[in-house]
Amino acid sequence: MSADYTVQGSVAVVTLNNPPVNGLGLATRSAAVDAIRRAESDDAVKAIVLTGAGKAFSGGADIREFNSPKALTEPTLHTLIRVVEDCSKPVVAAIHTVCMGGGLELALGCNYRVALPGAQIALPEVKLGLLPGAGGTQRLPRVLGLEMALNMVVTGTPVLSEKLAGTALFDEVFPPGTDLVAAAVAFAGRVADVRPLPRVRDRQVGYPNPEGFLQASREQVKAMAGPFPAPLACVETVAASCTMPFEDGLKFERERFLHLMQTPESKALRHAFMAERAASKVPDVPSDTPTRSIASAAVVGAGTMGGGIAMNFANAGIPVTILETTQEALDKGMATIRKNYENTVKKGKLAPEKAEQRIGLVTGTLSYQDIARADIVVEAVFEDLQVKESVFRQLDAVMKPGAILASNTSTLDLNRIAAFTGRPHDVIGLHFFSPANVMKLLEIVRGGETGKDVLATALALAKKIRKTGVVSGVCDGFIGNRMLEQYLRQAYFLLDEGALPQQVDAAIERFGFAMGPFRMSDLAGNDVGWYIRKRRAVESPHIAYSKTADLLCEQGRFGQKTGAGWYDYRAGERKAHPSQLVNDMIVQHSKDIGVERRAIADVEIVERLVFALVNEGAKILEEGIALRASDIDMVYLTGYGFPLHRGGPMFYADTVGLPKVLEAIRSYARGRHGEAWTPAPLLERLAAEGKGFNG
Ligand code: NAI
Repeated sequence: MSADYTVQGSVAVVTLNNPPVNGLGLATRSAAVDAIRRAESDDAVKAIVLTGAGKAFSGGADIREFNSPKALTEPTLHTLIRVVEDCSKPVVAAIHTVCMGGGLELALGCNYRVALPGAQIALPEVKLGLLPGAGGTQRLPRVLGLEMALNMVVTGTPVLSEKLAGTALFDEVFPPGTDLVAAAVAFAGRVADVRPLPRVRDRQVGYPNPEGFLQASREQVKAMAGPFPAPLACVETVAASCTMPFEDGLKFERERFLHLMQTPESKALRHAFMAERAASKVPDVPSDTPTRSIASAAVVGAGTMGGGIAMNFANAGIPVTILETTQEALDKGMATIRKNYENTVKKGKLAPEKAEQRIGLVTGTLSYQDIARADIVVEAVFEDLQVKESVFRQLDAVMKPGAILASNTSTLDLNRIAAFTGRPHDVIGLHFFSPANVMKLLEIVRGGETGKDVLATALALAKKIRKTGVVSGVCDGFIGNRMLEQYLRQAYFLLDEGALPQQVDAAIERFGFAMGPFRMSDLAGNDVGWYIRKRRAVESPHIAYSKTADLLCEQGRFGQKTGAGWYDYRAGERKAHPSQLVNDMIVQHSKDIGVERRAIADVEIVERLVFALVNEGAKILEEGIALRASDIDMVYLTGYGFPLHRGGPMFYADTVGLPKVLEAIRSYARGRHGEAWTPAPLLERLAAEGKGFNG
């Protein structure tokens, strides 16, 4: 049963029951329709209370039905709401905890709504590139007024029920601690005989001359919507609640909803939403795998990454000790942590006492003995295997049995690091991204011997510290940086062939990347890649890459931190100014290597950068380094600034069509440095089969 039916006196109580949040999937809708009809035909029943079991009134559509024909199978949500709204007996929605999306639309179809305080009320469809498609845009303004309803529909932000007390959305918001169902049944008893039945659809929005307000809203929303069409469509549909009769408005809403469903932007957002949920699942590590308790943590190294990693633990209330080699390095790291918290307080994003509480959870030490009892230790020392070896040997010697030993390495072989210890099953990669206290992505690197309970603990920890955890196998660069390597190689080749940094950056930023490769490198530090290239030149001398980036580093142009990189930076500023010196150097380098520079179209720049990611992503997928294409998309969306409206590189390739992607790759394979373009066998196979990476 996904809706329970009981009768209390003359009131029927229909309880949606579809854990975890009473999603309105087909079975639940059918059961709810049956229950309402049963109550209607029972002469002993005078009124109906509609509520939700467990943790929600209803969280709305059942995400398990996303992209499935079930969502459109009768009874649809529309039909359910009609059945409720046309019922000849009063229906009272009894709302608690969560009332969102379709759940709120269902409540709006009821004759009365009562609620407990603290319930989250929202129409969040816009966050999936959609609009509320079951009457929400027409009914909400009729109870909240145009302005408040428009704001909720356009932003999707939840509002607490007590903040909406006194509006026509709620007939009563009970005091905290009230027995909701008992109070709702009593309320239903009081209104059982009231006729005519109040219906939201019969109300008027009553906003005289809304055009001025609507026009201002359109302009404001357009400015903040970026590439997404949904927010503006939300304005237009909510506007229809003022300008059209109810039934016409409903039809208009339906048309706009169906249109948005088909837009690539909404498909991308829905993909990202599902991808995030999928990423936490590992086929051979079931959700009931036992996890280890993480009540204390340690970090080795208080540099760029170590400090930010420690903040993640402190933010989650986990005490953390940072180990350094010198008091000076430790003091510097601790001071940076304090400054970061102070800046957050200054921005008004954190209460000063909370910041102090968190700072209080971070302690520093120079002694391994002081971290020996930690449940987890994350190593973030220099990216040098010998340094890592000495650290892991010491960790192995001092850490208590059962402690998790994690490395934040970006590119080194985790299996070799694990082999420095006598407990490789306790070793895992936790690859944070800079700034580690801000970036959402956490690549969880599963070594050959990493224990399943260690992996399950890391996945749970990712959730606890509010990161998107994505599991990667072991390879040079893991998922993200291994792909980035190919992307950057192309960016540098483009410079040799005729482009300049500002053109490359502008083209890819127009595609939607938060930052082009050259601005990004200047931010991260050009020396980081330089060291990695030097190592690779020894390990894999056959791989060709442009020398331009090395020439830049040889001049000490490491990026923003040295005031000069691919661009020039004025003291204290982050704005990138094209550099004549660098541009001359690039042109000269083309001459030196005998390449005649040509005009390169932006389309070529975007294709070469993005398809380089896709081709390497396909190899990573085929090798099993990534578990699924959507995991690769998550890595790029949450760690590398890939445009959200394009859904990640693999999803974008599916949108373009794999045969087209393959054709472009083959054409680049015929050009200069064609060896960088060997098509991934998986890409060739899927293209031939007419399939996509995501099915
Ligand atoms: P960093 O140079 O800023 O900091 C390293 C810190 O480790 C220094 O404070 C140093 O004093 C300390 N240290 C060195 N040897 C030590 C030892 N034996 N015991 C204790 N402390 C020691 O380096 P960064 O950038 O924080 O990188 C650390 C690790 O994180 C590297 O493995 C790097 O690949 C990885 N990483 C770096 C990212 C970045 O953007 N900087 C991003 C993701 C990972």
